[in-house]
Amino acid sequence: MSIKGFIFDLDGVLTDTAEYHYRAWKRLADELGIPFTREENEALRGIPRRESLLLLLKGRTFPEATLNELMERKNSYYLEYIREISPRDVLPGARELLSEIRAAGLKAALGSASKNAREVIERLGIAGLLDAVADGYSVTRQKPAPDLFLHAAALLGLAPAECVVVEDAAAGVEAALAGGFTVIGIGPHERVGKAHVVLPNLAGARLADLLARLPMHA
Ligand code: BG6
Ligand code: MG
Repeated sequence: MSIKGFIFDLDGVLTDTAEYHYRAWKRLADELGIPFTREENEALRGIPRRESLLLLLKGRTFPEATLNELMERKNSYYLEYIREISPRDVLPGARELLSEIRAAGLKAALGSASKNAREVIERLGIAGLLDAVADGYSVTRQKPAPDLFLHAAALLGLAPAECVVVEDAAAGVEAALAGGFTVIGIGPHERVGKAHVVLPNLAGARLADLLARLPMHA
């Protein structure tokens, strides 16, 4: 079956919002007096807001209302940081690859666990390059469940076997593999090594080269 579409994760793939998520969680952790390092933040990559908070709390328990307040507080910090996002913040190679995909008659969708995804792609100026958006509101079961990517593929009218997922998180790679997608992992092998193809980033990534490297084309 040939590839007819790409599904892109957002944070850490199309833009470096992964850094803003880290800073927002770090600010909250500092306020709570909980140690939180960049290394520990790696476990939160691609993970929804609530699960991220529970990981950050490291077993500390709070009433539901407090958990909600903490999630809102982190999100308010995150929104403060992303207010400055502009088209300059699209990571190198991402806009070019999206344009090439569209010019080749293939489809492109977003598959992000973030509830802020629509705002971010608007600020980046890439919403017009995406045929469909699956975000933190689209499905109940989040990554590493395959649901979000299956939903994105359905929005494109494509089968998983016809789509390539581009992901920077271990949970996202796992989700895509579970859904039967071909996967391009962005980042170090230790994190995304289970993907079919691993790239450090999308800088210089050309559509024809990527397609040639995928297993079904080997
Ligand atoms: C993912 C990020 O894309 O979205 C996670 O990698 C984040 O770090 C998750 O927790 C949920 O995002 P938001 O914006 O809804 O809190
Ligand atoms: Mg990501």
